[in-house]
Parts: sequence; structure tokens; C-alpha cells
Amino acid sequence: MNDKSKTKEQLLRELSLLRTEIAQLEQLNVKYKQADEERKETKIFLENVFNTSADGIIVTDPFGTITMVNPAVEDMLGYSTEELIGKNSIELRPEGSEFEEKGRAFITRLLEDGVIRGIERTWQKKDGSLIEIDFHAALLKDNDGEITGAVGSIRDITERKWAERKLIEYQKQLRSLASQLTLTEESDRRTFATYLHDHIGQSLFILKIKLETLLNTVRSPDISQHLQETTGIIEQLIKDTRSLTFELSPPILYQLGFEAALDWLFEQMHNQYGIETSFQNDKSPKPLDDDVLILLFRGVRELLVNVGKHARAQHVTVTTRRDDDHIVIQVEDNGIGFDLSDVDISTMPSKGFGLFSIKERLDHIGGRLYIDSQAGHGARITLIAPLKSKNTTRETS
Ligand SMILES: Nc1ncnc2c1ncn2[C@@H]1O[C@H](COP(=O)(O)OP(=O)(O)O)[C@@H](O)[C@H]1O
Ligand SMILES: [Mg+2]
Repeated sequence: MNDKSKTKEQLLRELSLLRTEIAQLEQLNVKYKQADEERKETKIFLENVFNTSADGIIVTDPFGTITMVNPAVEDMLGYSTEELIGKNSIELRPEGSEFEEKGRAFITRLLEDGVIRGIERTWQKKDGSLIEIDFHAALLKDNDGEITGAVGSIRDITERKWAERKLIEYQKQLRSLASQLTLTEESDRRTFATYLHDHIGQSLFILKIKLETLLNTVRSPDISQHLQETTGIIEQLIKDTRSLTFELSPPILYQLGFEAALDWLFEQMHNQYGIETSFQNDKSPKPLDDDVLILLFRGVRELLVNVGKHARAQHVTVTTRRDDDHIVIQVEDNGIGFDLSDVDISTMPSKGFGLFSIKERLDHIGGRLYIDSQAGHGARITLIAPLKSKNTTRETS
């Protein structure tokens, strides 16, 4: 059947079909145009991101030769785009085996993982100065999985690294000062203790002997009575001076070490405040630098005095144990406890050698103080401090 033989109805049907197809094609065309428009918009958007990003963006070929950079890279490195394109990214590394090694490790990791996030690197600017950067990188691949290059984003962290280093330096200075303070105080205490023992103690002793000699020659019972009383007072003074000497600077601390000194301290606290102490020690060696030893001893003493003064407790348990390269000491009482919100030790001004002072000094030597207490439920205070390191002693000056 040829066209001439088509009926009018047939022709009209074909015409309608053709119209529908044209309409569909037009719709498709609109969609393509829209997609094209979107692609253009995306391209402009990406170009804007690329050009205005504060982070530097660098694109390289598979061999590391730079093919594209954004303006932020120019600002960071001081090179123009023209100077950077064609340069190998390796040339941005400063000279030196340390940097070379890091660079090689970086490429190996990138090839293995495909992406690297947040790696810190040092690069060299055009003027020769160094810049520290935070680097993210990813491999670029085509549809067949072939590597076509890499894209990296870099952020200048030179100032941040400088501030970090400064902070570490200040912390070190602070630690050193805190440690010097503890040592100076201790040395003052020792000087005072020696003076008390060598001068006042000695003089009192001579006075006592002289009085006793006098006592033997006196006939009057009245005077004898007075002299005996005076001798009694002097004997008490001698005892007081001796215990004050020990309290100021317990020789046992240096002769027998921390735990033996604690035993002595418990006895003192028992005599003074009537506190019963049980002591648990894991018996592991806990070598301590002098300043830490003194600080912990003074710290435990203060905690026990606190129990005596504030806790109304019948019993205290002190434990010492080693936790890796730290010493952990806990002082736990069954007294009235206290509400931490009533005693905010972090904002408390340093008055004397209280909880705040111990916390502050421990912080400075790389230790910690934890308080675990509730009103009515006793108190548990934990002191943590670093042990003496194996090879080097902590810097104290
Ligand atoms: N073991 C304890 N039991 C109850 N209250 C305590 C205990 N230790 C400390 N406190 C409370 O915490 C406060 C702060 O202690 P501290 O810093 O040593 O200062 P101070 O002993 O000079 O008052 C104390 O005044 C007391 O109210
Ligand atoms: Mg106190």
C-alpha cells in the first residue's frame, strides 16, 4: 500500500503520532538544555570555590607535575601561577633527608590508600622561608581506574604550630618554676629545721643540764620545787622542738623514701588528730624525683590534716600503687564529706597549701588531682604524679 492509498484517518493518526514524537523530542531537548545549564552553573560554582577558597588547591599529573593551582597557593607560597605550573611538587619541599623521607612516605601512602587527610608538612616558599601546612590529598582516576593525577588542598598552619610550640615551652617553664618552688620551700624548711635542732634545741638541752646541776646544789625546798617545774617545762620544750624539727623536714623522707615516710606520717596524724589509718601499698617500686617526692608527701599530709580538721571521720584508708609510669595515691575517709559545688577548688584563690595548691602544683608537673566526695558520704581524693623517667630525670631548672 502506497501513500496515495492511505485513508484520511490513517494519515491523521500518523500525523498525531508524529506530533507526539516531536513533543517528546522537544521535552528531551529542554531536559538536555537544563542539564547543560546546570553543568555550566556547577562549573562556575566550582570555579568560584576554586578561586576564592582560603585553602590552597593544587592539581598535578600522575608524575607530580603541577597542572593547576588556585590563587590561595600563590599567596601562601609567594610564587605566581605561571611559575608553579610545570614545576614538580617535590621542588616545594625544603632540602634535607628528613623532608625527603617524609615526602617519599607521603607518596607511598597516597598510592596505597588513594586519600590522605590532615597530614602536616613543611614546604619552602619562593623567598626561602619555611611554611607549615596541613595537607589533604586524593588521587584522581579516570573511568577505567587509571591514575590521571592528584589533587591536594593545603592550609597554612605556621602560626598555629608556632603558638603550639610556645605553649609547650611555657608549660615547661611553668613546670620548672613549680618544681623549683617546691624545692626552694623544702630547702627553707630544712634550713629552719637544722637551725631549730642545732641552735634552739641545743641551747635548751644545755639549759636543762645547767638547771639540773643547780637543782643538786639548792637546799631550799621552795626553790627546788620551782626549779623542778622549770626543768619539766624545758623538757617539754625540747620534745616540742624535736617534733617540730621532724615535721618541718622529716629526715625519714630522704633516708627511707616515700612509703616509709608515710608510715611515720600516719603515726603523727594518729597522735595529733586521733585518726586511724590503714595503708595499702602494691609494693611495686615507685622511683620519684625529689620535687615530686616532696610535693606528694606534703600533699598527703595536707589531705590527712583535712580529714582531721574537717571530716569528723573515724577511719582513713591510704593506698599507693603504680600505674604504668605514674604513681597513684588515694586518701579515702568515712567522714561527713563535702559538696564540690561548695568548694570550687578551680576558682579558689591559693591560700596556703590547700587542695587548690596541690592541684595546681600537680598540674604543673604533669600530674592530676581528683576529688570524689558528696556531703554525708566521705571523701576520696586521688593524687597522680609521674614517676622518675628511666634515662633522664625531669628537667627541674
Ligand atoms: N576530707 C574532707 N572531708 C570534708 N571536707 C573536706 C575534706 N577535705 C576538704 N574539705 C573541705 O574542702 C575545703 C577546702 O580544703 P582545703 O583546700 O584544704 O582548705 P582548708 O583546709 O584550709 O579549709 C575545706 O575547708 C573543707 O570544707
Ligand atoms: Mg586544708
